[in-house]
Amino acid sequence: MDLQLVIFDLDGVIVDTAKYHYLAWKRLGDRLGIEFTRQDNERLKGVSRMRSLDILLEIGGQERTNTEKEELAAAKNAWYVEYINEMDSSEILPGVLPFVAELRAAGIKIALGSASKNARTILEKVVLTEYFDVIVDGNLVTKAKPDPEVFVLSASLLNVAPAQAVVFEDAQAGIEAAIRAKMMAVGVGDPQVLAAAHHVIPCFADFSLDKLNSVLKG
Ligand code: BG6
Ligand code: MG
Repeated sequence: MDLQLVIFDLDGVIVDTAKYHYLAWKRLGDRLGIEFTRQDNERLKGVSRMRSLDILLEIGGQERTNTEKEELAAAKNAWYVEYINEMDSSEILPGVLPFVAELRAAGIKIALGSASKNARTILEKVVLTEYFDVIVDGNLVTKAKPDPEVFVLSASLLNVAPAQAVVFEDAQAGIEAAIRAKMMAVGVGDPQVLAAAHHVIPCFADFSLDKLNSVLKG
């Protein structure tokens, strides 16, 4: 494979924002009288904001009108934004920065493919924006993962064919999206959870472009 593009998911791959999503959803759950656990939070990884709210309401056996849901999602997001505004580059997950710098030095294009509408804020906070040739986030796509739109758009904006792109993802929905985009899908995390991926790494610590190339050679 002639590797030309690496697409990174954001939450759970570059930074661990799941803990902030959890705190904000928990706060909303408390307000609604819904008990929301860390285990429940696992179900929200890679899932859009509105679908996450639906899951929270399902857990509590509650229903709301669309207008009410808009208000609840906005309240959750305001709390989430308070948390992410406190982030800095110390929150970049181990190994990510050297790997990204290595890709850049090798002339490989770098994209962000995230469901989050807060992706740009987070990249700014952790001072990573300048590494990305393109940032495709929840504001640019209409169809959430597992739809391949976010990855297909990233590659087409950079004029790269799917077969020359690799996606790093921590969520099942993201792996499915990458496979549907006809890209090489590398899972970051638990191999049992990410069994559908072409390859799984535990994290980026100890990972490198050489190692990626060995994986690609298969
Ligand atoms: C994904 C996260 O990256 O973005 C999900 O894994 C989150 O947990 C989704 O719900 C949407 O994020 P935001 O920031 O637009 O609410
Ligand atoms: Mg993720």
